[in-house]
Amino acid sequence: MKNFIANWKMNGSIEVLETYCQHLASNQEHLTDSMILALPALYIPMARHYLKNTPVAIAAQCVSAHNDGAYTGQLSARMFAELGCSYAIIGHSERREIESIESTKNQMLQCIHSGLKPILCIGETLQEKNEMKTIEILTSQLQPMLTLEQQGHDIWVAYEPRWAIGSGLTPDNNEINIVADWFKGLSAAKFIYGGSVNPDNIENLAKCTLDGFLVGGASLDYNLTNQMVSICTHCS
Ligand code: PGA
Repeated sequence: MKNFIANWKMNGSIEVLETYCQHLASNQEHLTDSMILALPALYIPMARHYLKNTPVAIAAQCVSAHNDGAYTGQLSARMFAELGCSYAIIGHSERREIESIESTKNQMLQCIHSGLKPILCIGETLQEKNEMKTIEILTSQLQPMLTLEQQGHDIWVAYEPRWAIGSGLTPDNNEINIVADWFKGLSAAKFIYGGSVNPDNIENLAKCTLDGFLVGGASLDYNLTNQMVSICTHCS
């Protein structure tokens, strides 16, 4: 079984969420706690209500690097934990545009202190890939996670090449396996892939040395989600 993390980003509406959750709740054949929904923060209480009799877990899409204080508009890891979240995506490339590596480390620490499991995203740009700098870039992004893992904390890592996100492009399986092998040589943590995953390519991608998928665009549609979750349930 592979983990399936749906990242809605800033998409959806109350109506879409209601329908999606009702479908999930009434068709639980493939559902396990390996399915994780990363929703816009405002929708989390409603999703928790609709999904209360399902094993689906909820994730924050990002958290503040701070515990509490005068940080207008920010939301803390503790607040997400209070709402019943179990995970938080940290360092998504869409956040790294405005966040430093130091900030992602502090966000992971906030998650750990609040009982949320961080899912750290790492990934290179197309230019970095073409310049053969993939491992160098991933190493710098991974370093804070390795330090925390050495201290005994369990952090998942999502490899999301920036050029693959929302582009319809993915690395080939050999390229993913090279990164997966590099990662497994450094860490015992779960290793997830994200970037243009959809029902047509997920079965092939699942042949890679991966523990699961982080899916954006294709996870907004319940029928596509159901197809992908069903494939993940049957994969070793
Ligand atoms: P995508 O997004 O599946 O739409 O490419 C993945 C992500 O950004 O997590």
